[in-house]
Amino acid sequence: MAKQSREQWRSRSGFLLAAVGSAVGLGNMWRFSYLASEKGGAGFVGLYLLFTLLIGLPVMLAELTIGRGARSGPVMALAHYGGSAWRWLGAVFVATGFLILSYYGVIGGWTIRYAFEAATIGFPVDSAAHFDDLASGYDSLATQVAFMAMTILIVCGGIGSGIERVARVAMPGLFVIMIGIALYAFTLDGAGAGYAYYLNFDLEKALTLDVIVAAAGQAFFSLSLGMGVMLTFASYLPRDSHLAKETAVISFADFGVAYVAGLMVFPLIFALGMGSEISGSTIGALFVALPKAFATMGLVGRIVGLAFFLALVVGALTSAISLLEVLVSASMDAFHWERRRAALVSGVLVTGLGAWSAFDLDILDLADSIAINLFLVGGGLGITIFVGWIMHDPIGEASAGGTPSIVYVIWRGLLRYVVPAALLFILWHALPETWAKFRAVAGLG
Ligand code: PHE
Repeated sequence: MAKQSREQWRSRSGFLLAAVGSAVGLGNMWRFSYLASEKGGAGFVGLYLLFTLLIGLPVMLAELTIGRGARSGPVMALAHYGGSAWRWLGAVFVATGFLILSYYGVIGGWTIRYAFEAATIGFPVDSAAHFDDLASGYDSLATQVAFMAMTILIVCGGIGSGIERVARVAMPGLFVIMIGIALYAFTLDGAGAGYAYYLNFDLEKALTLDVIVAAAGQAFFSLSLGMGVMLTFASYLPRDSHLAKETAVISFADFGVAYVAGLMVFPLIFALGMGSEISGSTIGALFVALPKAFATMGLVGRIVGLAFFLALVVGALTSAISLLEVLVSASMDAFHWERRRAALVSGVLVTGLGAWSAFDLDILDLADSIAINLFLVGGGLGITIFVGWIMHDPIGEASAGGTPSIVYVIWRGLLRYVVPAALLFILWHALPETWAKFRAVAGLG
């Protein structure tokens, strides 16, 4: 009965902008640049591209197919095609979204703080100490709450007049700012060292298990896959949408933004002599090295820095709303709540869990590892097996609205054999690493 009144995107481009808005976020800028620098630059980038094509594309098409066909949130959608035993996979998705949004909101809060400071007082030269001050504790909690309040507000507005409307303004703005900064960075003396650092391929460094695991996790995180965001967004699509095309556009845009983010971050950092700052990289790299570079650039630094952090706020917000939307649509399905109530209840609960990360960076880092390397990759494996082996006629469902072609046959082959094998391998190797991290944070080791 609730299905008759299901909301819809206002237009195809609105859906695409919202989906790209979900994909493009802190993952492309903060997480991508810190991993690229920690895991040896171009080798990591190459593997990440490979996983985007080989695993990301098929899994995205799988999620879009289920969501559009079932027209409901993840829990009901999986039950719709697979029977009620599959609900648990949907429930894992919702739990994963909960965990990711909890700490994502904390980092989103940092971006607000930096944008605000760029506009008012500028960037302090001692950026490492400044980051330590604001990254955890009550300051961090306050900005997290502000960020989450904005997220909740937008999701309360609904699909067409909340999420789609914001994405329509925010995403073009973000693209313009990023390309502008990347071009500006290109003109700086000494930018070459940054490009070299980012683009030099070192085969030996790339082919370690650690880099493979990180690149696969990053591909899932960056494309918003493995926890039902794309599934949920597709549930508001009309039946005649061309899913393979949408998959290609979203993935291409997401990789493009991550790639351009590298073209702005590394040249800027190296041109201003902060190269050593990122080699000791941690989750703070983007928030330490870059502001320090901006601080040495005077007024220009403030303007470029403000634009940069505004773009980050926008990217983070459009991703956070997609994460919250998964929780909202699942609770609307399950409890027949109206949207506002669902947004408020789930938003407040997530913020509460996130307070833990706001007070302890080790917890944030641990939540990030568990959520991405285990849950997203594991969720992707679940979806792959579901569509490859359980769902009836996936090719027919996926190609409805377009023309059936060989692409879908290849897609199913990948989902049946290649992707599950790759994901099992990755998951198997991610386990010990994440377990070690857990032991260290829990004080067991
Ligand atoms: N893709 C988003 C980013 O890159 C993060 C995200 C992950 C959003 C999973 C939704 C689901 O920042």
